[in-house]
Amino acid sequence: MKPFELAVIGMGVMGQNLARNFASRKIRTVVYNRHSERAEAVIKAHGNEYLDFRKDLKSLVRELETPRKILLMVKDGSPVDEMVTELLPHLSKGDMVIDSGNSNYKDTIRRTQALKKEGIEFVGMGVSGGEEGALKGPSIMPGGSGKTWEALAPFLEKIAAKDFGGMPCVTHIGPDGAGHYVKMIHNGIEYGVMQMMAEAYDLLKNLYGLSASDIAKVFHGFNRGMLKSYLFEIAVPVLSRKDDLSKGYLVDSILDRAGQKGTGRWAAGDALDRGMVLPSITEAVFARSLSAMKGQRVELSKEYKKPTVEPNIKVGEFVSLLEQALYAGMISAYAQGFELMRAAAQEQGWPLDFAEIARVWEGGCIIRAELLNFLHKAFVSAKGKPTHLFAISPIRKALQEHLPAWRKTVAMATEAGVPTPALGTSLNYFEGMTQEVVPANFIQGLRDYFGAHTYERTDREGIFHTPWNS
Ligand code: 6PG
Repeated sequence: MKPFELAVIGMGVMGQNLARNFASRKIRTVVYNRHSERAEAVIKAHGNEYLDFRKDLKSLVRELETPRKILLMVKDGSPVDEMVTELLPHLSKGDMVIDSGNSNYKDTIRRTQALKKEGIEFVGMGVSGGEEGALKGPSIMPGGSGKTWEALAPFLEKIAAKDFGGMPCVTHIGPDGAGHYVKMIHNGIEYGVMQMMAEAYDLLKNLYGLSASDIAKVFHGFNRGMLKSYLFEIAVPVLSRKDDLSKGYLVDSILDRAGQKGTGRWAAGDALDRGMVLPSITEAVFARSLSAMKGQRVELSKEYKKPTVEPNIKVGEFVSLLEQALYAGMISAYAQGFELMRAAAQEQGWPLDFAEIARVWEGGCIIRAELLNFLHKAFVSAKGKPTHLFAISPIRKALQEHLPAWRKTVAMATEAGVPTPALGTSLNYFEGMTQEVVPANFIQGLRDYFGAHTYERTDREGIFHTPWNS
């Protein structure tokens, strides 16, 4: 029998589906799971000449073509380290261990360096698309060396989703932790976009009193226009699903406490550490944390009644404003994400290609959207120059067109007491970034007054301190 071309370790749904995807492209794939019954069950249900399992790591490794390509799809953190430790005695120089989970890029850098000493290539690879994407075509963001990319590309290109031009949604992101870093930014943007969608839902529900099914219709309309995307598409079934356990719509019975596994928080923390500005994503993380404070919210809501505001425009007109605000807000979130990636690329020495990153997000991943094709083309037109997204001509035109609606939407929400942390902060980021003079001069004055922290001047070079009390 011919040796296997690739192994997948970890038979959770994502691992299973990735393995089945490889096998469906006629790539001889062998799977392993710590509890072998699970791997056995996968093979019983889906096994064929391209898909088999092995009960122990030794036989799995022995039966792989060299250099070996072993994909891990296990939980991030210590399970990855444990699996690498178990594998190591069986591996030979040049073998590749590919971590396809949502690992922290700092762990990926550490593992890459540690395994390099053993002659093993470690690849941190972002994979997006959820269960369905893993099976039918994810967006793939591999880091690792150029050599590993050459070896893996033929396999990854076969299983990846397709972009708007029909090319595979996979590209070599950069060395060591670059792939996981870009996946972290993807997830952060996913947080930001979902939060803005939730704010739109809240406004339609609380400002205009629309039912879940009416809001589904609005989102359906959004998904036929400039907001066309996977998340807006799935908003429709999520909002229109009837509840099996009670009367009404399921969404109305789902507790308003959002979970989070950490990638959004990592992105926000990374921006703070690098002195970068990532408010849309950070506010989305805060909004999830705030949602978890259910008990306090219930108590405090009894003390503070919301204002009763009659909106002065009809719902149809508001829907159009909202669509534009969401579009512009999303561009703002992307701009922040790309600026953070620019800073990281510089500090880590990663040659990140923004046009390519936008391109591989066009298909397969959770944030896939028409907008990504627009951003991809915008970055192509910038020809690799380090240009802020807001400065690229087609983006500038779009923002200028939608700005009045964006401002009006946030103003209406504020007046009605409906919180719009992500839409609002996306707008504030825009306002700040496009304002020649911000009030930091005043802050500098205060800092110098109480702590002699010094300041610079607008009209001459140098560092100044004023004896304010003399
Ligand atoms: C993807 C998703 C995936 C996962 C998120 C969810 O790209 O396929 O982003 O990675 O769904 O990490 O994260 P939270 O549980 O933190 O919302």
